Amino acid sequence: MARRILFSLLLILGAGAASEASSAKLETIAVLGTGDMGDSFGPRFADLGYHVIYGSRSPDSERVVNLVNSTGRGASADTYADAAAAADIVLVAVASHAVEQIIDGLGELDGKVIIDLNWPPTRIADDGYEERLTDISVAERIQEMRPKALVVKAFGTMASNVIDDPHVAGGPVTAPIASDHRQAKETVARIAAELGLDPVDAGPLRMARYLESLMMLYLIPHNQGRQEGWDFYFRRSNYWACNAYTGGELDETGPTIIDAGNLAEFPHTQGEPEPCPSE
Ligand SMILES: NC(=O)c1ccc[n+]([C@@H]2O[C@H](COP(=O)([O-])OP(=O)(O)OC[C@H]3O[C@@H](n4cnc5c(N)ncnc54)[C@H](OP(=O)(O)O)[C@@H]3O)[C@@H](O)[C@H]2O)c1
Repeated sequence: MARRILFSLLLILGAGAASEASSAKLETIAVLGTGDMGDSFGPRFADLGYHVIYGSRSPDSERVVNLVNSTGRGASADTYADAAAAADIVLVAVASHAVEQIIDGLGELDGKVIIDLNWPPTRIADDGYEERLTDISVAERIQEMRPKALVVKAFGTMASNVIDDPHVAGGPVTAPIASDHRQAKETVARIAAELGLDPVDAGPLRMARYLESLMMLYLIPHNQGRQEGWDFYFRRSNYWACNAYTGGELDETGPTIIDAGNLAEFPHTQGEPEPCPSE
């Protein structure tokens, strides 16, 4: 609770943009999939004041009914199609190999924000390590299937325990967000900030390929049969700013800004950047 109060204060004090956006908060989020990720996101969204509808193959099963009851706050469960139809924002958190079939079975998605956190379908290659089965990302495939949906890649770079408790990493966990739709990107950034994560702009949707590929690194200890896994987190860094490093060609007008029209202005949820070492 103390953390929630502190976080609320940070939002109020440090994130004017976030508070402004919150007043326009879309009310209903469909959480498609009731597995490890779905049952982490659903209760957190409900706690934040969103109306949660789980989408499931078995919305009346005891397992899903228990999840709905423990989520509380008016949460419900329905079929995938009906849950998505009732929502403004749809979080797709289903088994990787089932994504296409599930998206195919949904009704109209035009104008809805579709958050894709899925890892790509893979197989174990001859050397025992993961290998992708597709060249494009899951997110791009969803966008291809539903051209008028606003697909955003986010939240696949962290495990469900970070969603349960963003403080588990001992510091702010950065959530890279990729999309070709700036407003949708900003909506998801606001949600990330509300969840206690630190949203950063990862560029256009095609960058989802690289975000998704991180899971193959995550699974290496598992592939090796080790008891101990590893977690990794993105963190903001002031290294470039402190060392006046531009990272690109400069002319008299300054560095070239790529993708300027889709460069999101995210709420700065984690306060001011750390001072440079000499300051
Ligand atoms: N777990 C993590 O920490 C983590 C982290 C990052 C990304 N991801 C990605 O997030 C997605 C969901 O992961 P998860 O860990 O929540 O998976 P999970 O625990 O295996 O749950 C997946 C859910 O997908 C639904 N589903 C629909 N069709 C299915 C089918 N044919 N076979 C199996 N399940 C089916 C099921 O929900 P219903 O029974 O309600 O239909 C199931 O509970 C995956 O793409 C995964 O790669 C997971």
